[in-house]
Amino acid sequence: MPETRILMFDSGVGGISVFKDIKARLPWVSVTYAFDNQAYPYGELAQDELVDRVEQYVQHFIETQSISLVVIACNTASTVVLPRLREKFSIPIVGVVPAIKPASQRANLGVGLIATPATVTREYTHDLIKDFAKDKDVKMVGTTELVDMAEQKLRGVDVDLAVLDQVLQPLKGNIDVAVLGCTHFPLLRNEICQVLGNDVTLVDSGDAISRRVEFLLNESSITHSNGDLSYDVFCSAEPYSRSALQSSFTELGFSLIKIQPL
Ligand code: DGL
Repeated sequence: MPETRILMFDSGVGGISVFKDIKARLPWVSVTYAFDNQAYPYGELAQDELVDRVEQYVQHFIETQSISLVVIACNTASTVVLPRLREKFSIPIVGVVPAIKPASQRANLGVGLIATPATVTREYTHDLIKDFAKDKDVKMVGTTELVDMAEQKLRGVDVDLAVLDQVLQPLKGNIDVAVLGCTHFPLLRNEICQVLGNDVTLVDSGDAISRRVEFLLNESSITHSNGDLSYDVFCSAEPYSRSALQSSFTELGFSLIKIQPL
């Protein structure tokens, strides 16, 4: 059986949080990690443009590589792009959306949703809250500042806890469970925990996504592969602080960052 390769997509480094869960569960799966840094941040991008860009970028990799499954490792994109991708491509497309349901099941005091400015306004997100957290007080914080902090952290820059504290202020004392509704945020898990305190449980979707990927590969009878394993990384424009960013990717086993313009 040849190598099994999945495509993971995000606007930046956020998908790395999901990659870690997938790598832990499926260490035999090769990964192409593609990020559209040219249009970053997706949380501030017009919806139509976002959908078109994701479709084009995903199409490029499906056409040029042997991809078995796609993970849209971005909540902001997943809340709007999944129907279009599933209509267009025949391979399984897995999305990442805010883990409102498990968070609501655990919460006694209230649920905090920390996501991008776009995700907190999406109909998809509001439907999740209506369907799974109707009886809970849900407080939302839409922030690009935290997304930027995660990008910086992966480039070796320390997180400013005072700024983080300020952004998360509306949640403090009001919640006992926080949903990390952007894939960048699990990369700041320790810092968010320091600011919100140990009494607040942080919930993300990474493990559930890795289980979903495992299930879908099994369903397609892909249970292992004998090919060489590799982790490749592409972005749509020259990344800033390339060498610091490369160090983080190298640590995870990725090859050199390549530019694939959209
Ligand atoms: N990582 C992305 C998410 O999960 C979006 C970050 C951004 O580009 O705004 O929503």
